[in-house]
Amino acid sequence: MKQVRITGVGSYLPERIVTNDELSRTLDTSDEWIVSHTGISTRHLAAPGESTGSMAIAAAKRAMADAGVKPEDIGIVVLATSTPDHADMPATACDVQHGIGAVNAGAFDLIGACAGFVYGLEIARGLLQGDGRPALVIGSERMSGIVDWTDRNTCILFGDAAGAVVLETCDAKGHQFYGSVLHSDGGGADLLCRTGGAWRDPEGQMVRPGSVHMEGKPVFNFAVKAIPRIVTELAEKHCIALQDINHIVAHQANFRIIDAAAKRLEVPRERFYLNLQNVANTSSASIPLALDQMDEAGLLKEGDLILTVAFGAGLLSGGNLFRW
Ligand SMILES: CC(C)(COP(=O)(O)OP(=O)(O)OC[C@H]1O[C@@H](n2cnc3c(N)ncnc32)[C@H](O)[C@@H]1OP(=O)(O)O)[C@@H](O)C(=O)NCCC(=O)NCCS
Repeated sequence: MKQVRITGVGSYLPERIVTNDELSRTLDTSDEWIVSHTGISTRHLAAPGESTGSMAIAAAKRAMADAGVKPEDIGIVVLATSTPDHADMPATACDVQHGIGAVNAGAFDLIGACAGFVYGLEIARGLLQGDGRPALVIGSERMSGIVDWTDRNTCILFGDAAGAVVLETCDAKGHQFYGSVLHSDGGGADLLCRTGGAWRDPEGQMVRPGSVHMEGKPVFNFAVKAIPRIVTELAEKHCIALQDINHIVAHQANFRIIDAAAKRLEVPRERFYLNLQNVANTSSASIPLALDQMDEAGLLKEGDLILTVAFGAGLLSGGNLFRW
């Protein structure tokens, strides 16, 4: 079987930066509370006219330029998002495919919430091994459009962004992309969800769009257990010792979640990349955005072993293990 590897990465962050102090002008909260409970100081929020699709296009163009891949060579566009630009159809991925000029590609949306990107990467890996043409995997979220800005329990946590990678086949002999683990526990679906929506429910009643609802403590407890579980499962499955993993790129939700998971795993916290202080929780964009910022900062060396791990609404969790 052909090996598969990430050959390009790109991201997009809206220009507008919103501080905790700015939020505290309209919300009963404070910089001190938000930083001490989450580690988040600022988040980027999309401007009017900036959409999940437009942010995805910007990130995808950067990832293709980084990989040196032409749009017409892309075989599939996988867009992980929980904030699509259209109600149900068409897929926002089709706007992105058109916007980047990927005229020969198929395209679809994937609703995996904060775990969407790790799901997308594994699906694209499978498609690529059959098709052979480069795949684009994008996470893009306009969370600011679906949070309730009067609910201090949730709105302080999220930001807007997009991140993208190009995945290609390669001739390397050793493993480049070891594999992934994907889990779901639908029993926890009510703990983190978007209430409502513009459709008729099974009783025929029209349901209006709602906002993000979250029960913070149980989600926190789920996340703290999910990270060590995924990391251990992936490492054991591929006979990798934890100390041989160069970077663990965890979904950026809360510093305390990552810190507690690192302690449970007995892995130095420095091995976990952190950018949530500046960008907050950007859901499916979180991991590709982190990869792009790590690459920009020169933290990623050829051959580095990288483990991604994500968790979120579903409750979904999962991770990928690959070499840079
Ligand atoms: C949301 C979260 C930060 C709350 O932290 P916590 O330590 O659990 O805080 P609690 O829910 O116990 O709330 C403590 C108090 O702070 C208050 N509070 C909540 N949000 C607040 C805010 N933004 N500012 C000030 N006070 C706030 C609560 O109302 C509560 O007040 P009370 O004691 O008078 O009722 C935390 O539960 C969390 O991170 N959960 C996981 C969230 C997550 O990552 N979701 C996405 C997963 S993909």
